[in-house]
Amino acid sequence: MSTAPHFDIDLAAFWHDPYPVLTQLRVEAPIAYVPQLGGVVMTRRDDIAVSEKQIEVFSSHQPEGLMNKLMGHNLMRKDGEDHQAERKVIFPAVSPRTVKGTWREKFQEHTDRILDALVPKGGGDLSDVYARPVSGEALKEITGLTNITYLQIDSFSQGMIDGIANYAGDAEIEARCHAATAGIDAAIDDMLPVLRAHPNQSLLSVMVEAGLDMESARANVKLAISGGQNEPRDAIAGAIWALLNHPDQLELVLSGKVSWLRAFEEYARWISPIGMSPRRVAQHHVIRNVEFHPEDKVFFMFGSANRDEDYFADGHVFDVTRDASKSIAFGAGPHFCAGAAASRSLIADVALPAAFERLKGLRLEGRDEVKVGGWAFRGVLNLPCEWDK
Ligand code: HEM
Repeated sequence: MSTAPHFDIDLAAFWHDPYPVLTQLRVEAPIAYVPQLGGVVMTRRDDIAVSEKQIEVFSSHQPEGLMNKLMGHNLMRKDGEDHQAERKVIFPAVSPRTVKGTWREKFQEHTDRILDALVPKGGGDLSDVYARPVSGEALKEITGLTNITYLQIDSFSQGMIDGIANYAGDAEIEARCHAATAGIDAAIDDMLPVLRAHPNQSLLSVMVEAGLDMESARANVKLAISGGQNEPRDAIAGAIWALLNHPDQLELVLSGKVSWLRAFEEYARWISPIGMSPRRVAQHHVIRNVEFHPEDKVFFMFGSANRDEDYFADGHVFDVTRDASKSIAFGAGPHFCAGAAASRSLIADVALPAAFERLKGLRLEGRDEVKVGGWAFRGVLNLPCEWDK
């Protein structure tokens, strides 16, 4: 057990708004054991940036973890050469060149089609009727599972995310997770002969073409679905919400003075879709006079690092004119998000400009409050909007 000072939190309040506690922790106990989370949180950007690269200490290999048990052993739960070897195999599917040359056009086609159906409606919950399908259709292309619907890929993703956070062992949640992974396996079985006959740039196809063992290939497709649906969805809806709530800043973006990419990066800094990434301590280690022992559980709090006072003045303020380049919303080490290039293109090149271009007079509906929630994964839960038909 680490010698980190204990720090108690109110879990329900933390879910609603983790930032006041994270601000307090950065000052009083930057590395603290939080019993309600069952692990040691690391809240300062410098500590996380250094520790994430020390894979011999802070290991991603968690054989007893729920992710391995429920989704198979994927590349995010490997370290060192094994990890790098699989990163190399999947790179052709997520490289900036493939994103620019192949996925960008697909993203635009799906988004235009979704907006064609939305514009005449004049209103709706954009988190549900825009961000969810835009993210889902993109992920179907990237993974290679074009034989399922965006609603299926969205529910598979949610089923797995709930399953790997199911520390209480709720049987219904576990059953839904198993149904999700079985659904993905069936979709993979269905697509394999098609992709073998007609290989493409998708994740499944490049892994098959590279001869990666199917157990790892299936686990990596499940990983991409669990980590590649909610995050873009929440970032698209969240960035629209943030810009509608800051009309002066929206004007800067619409006038071209600030790019859509900067607006997205600032949103992902301000409210990081992935607020935490876990590690298992593999050997004795000391940092900030805190001793860690093997098997300690550590949480890298990206959401806190992205408001660290040493890097971001008034970090609690959404400001598209700030330099957000020190944000670690996509991670800060060897496990840096493999989908970062695809996400930046989907969100900043396509989803945000298209929404403000096609949904004329876009505004918050105003009757229903926009709800925001979560600490490990954080985002807007609804986004009721109106626009001119
Ligand atoms: C706004 C969107 C997204 C955000 C904010 C995000 C954020 C992250 C973060 C923080 C990590 C973990 C980094 C770490 O532990 O150091 C990660 C890993 C990963 N992400 Fe994303 N992600 C996004 C979208 C996507 C998409 C669309 C895909 C799939 C195409 C994807 C695939 C992955 C994979 C495969 C990993 C594991 C990489 C590794 O372990 O080497 N992500 N992501």
